[in-house]
Amino acid sequence: MRLAALLLVTFSLPLLASSREQRQRGAALFAARGCQRCHTIGDVGGHRGPNLSAVGKTASKAAIRKQIVNGSKVMPAFGDVLEAQEINDLVEYLRSCRKKPEEYRPGQ
Ligand code: HEC
Repeated sequence: MRLAALLLVTFSLPLLASSREQRQRGAALFAARGCQRCHTIGDVGGHRGPNLSAVGKTASKAAIRKQIVNGSKVMPAFGDVLEAQEINDLVEYLRSCRKKPEEYRPGQ
């Protein structure tokens, strides 16, 4: 029993850390790769595309990934522009965006 708990902690800590790092990288990519020119998260970004502050509540990982890879009539496709890892990072980040825009505070 104790061993199981120890194993659980040993293996889940790096996983948690890596998903947090993924989200942080995703947030940086969101700004660096131009997503922010069209999309607002919190109170930062443009308005050509929908506000993505709460996209993690409404869109599945698969839907977010599909949108990034294929784009649309209005949104460029990023499937050939971004590395697979970068797309994963963006998907992790966007899935974690679950607040109403007015719930974001500067510096959060
Ligand atoms: C030129 C403007 C533009 C850029 C740049 C852009 N998008 Fe979009 N995006 C849109 C528009 C417009 C939509 C609305 C749906 C549609 O027309 O396809 C959208 C939709 C989305 C959606 C679906 C939202 C939902 O509610 O389902 C996601 C997720 C998304 N964009 C992520 C990104 C990411 C990540 C990037 C950067 C890699 C990005 N977008 C760059 C314009 C843009």
